[in-house]
Amino acid sequence: MDVRLSVAPMMDWTDSHCRVFHRLLAPHARLYTEMVHANAVIHGDRGRLLAMDPVEHPVALQLGGSEPALLARAAVIGAQRGFDEINLNVGCPSDRVQAGRFGACLMREPGLVADSVAAMGEAVAALPRPVPVTVKCRLGVDDDHEFDRFLAFIDTVAAAGCRMFVVHARNAWLQGLSPKQNREVPPLRYDWAYALKRERPGLAVVVNGGIATLDEATAHLAHVDGAMLGRAAYHDPYLLHCLDVEWFGGERRSRASLLRDLRPYVERQLAEGVFLKHVTRHLLGLFHGQYGGRAFRQVLSEGAHRPGADWSLVEAALAVTGDAARAAA
Ligand SMILES: Cc1cc2nc3c(=O)[nH]c(=O)nc-3n(C[C@H](O)[C@H](O)[C@H](O)COP(=O)(O)O)c2cc1C
Repeated sequence: MDVRLSVAPMMDWTDSHCRVFHRLLAPHARLYTEMVHANAVIHGDRGRLLAMDPVEHPVALQLGGSEPALLARAAVIGAQRGFDEINLNVGCPSDRVQAGRFGACLMREPGLVADSVAAMGEAVAALPRPVPVTVKCRLGVDDDHEFDRFLAFIDTVAAAGCRMFVVHARNAWLQGLSPKQNREVPPLRYDWAYALKRERPGLAVVVNGGIATLDEATAHLAHVDGAMLGRAAYHDPYLLHCLDVEWFGGERRSRASLLRDLRPYVERQLAEGVFLKHVTRHLLGLFHGQYGGRAFRQVLSEGAHRPGADWSLVEAALAVTGDAARAAA
């Protein structure tokens, strides 16, 4: 599988509407869901939690949890619903997640992660359409600064059958930092991800954390198999389009023409009773840094809450952008 370009799993952000939009911009990117706890997959409202549109492929379901049997059941449910990869979260530092003994604190329990990966892998291997089980992790937690410890973690989990690791290339500090600070304060160490690829060339290594431009993302490809973008992809989604064209070929299209491709999806959602604002909240950054970008945001965010808001609002927002000015010239 081609793992060069991917969009990070982000709670409250990478829901199905967001992923459909990102797919239009970047036909070759791997997309990830928000993290869903294995228990929620098993007992919760699957129609809502595992919502996915067929255009999203390839798309990975990210699971949280640390009970191998539950994770295995959730992985089977995800694979049966059509997800192309099941990814285990070993990077989330929130207090709630630590209390549940999953996420980043699992960096300290390589044996448990290995057992989880093995159980998930065995369960999905028995399906008619097996899918890979992958792990997204940090470099370590708190003051772990030994590369060998990180490598030992990876080796233990790889021995259980994981062939691809997404490495958010910084530690998680489990005390005293909020999840947001944990994405900013601990220093980035891309060299560890690069060294992992050098030491274990048979594993697919995707680097994540702080990648903000086309040049930065491209530079990583000289060292690892892929780059995963989170916040930059969300706040400046046109960057995804530029990366997709640069790496996979094709012509760059205007923001307006890309956005208009979303119209049939939006109209289908509206017909099903979804409010426009649930889709348009993910579009606000499309004209990031462009002439009219702020006005585009404003028209969408003010208008999308009004009862009856429909596609005409998106056209009104497009009309205040530089793309409209260019088209009119
Ligand atoms: C709003 C938000 C929610 C996130 N939720 C998740 C999540 O559910 N699972 C996960 O593995 N990482 C989550 N992350 C972390 C991102 O996947 C990524 O590792 C992190 O933002 C660093 O990449 P970036 O600098 O490109 O944003 C989240 C990040 C943000 C900003």
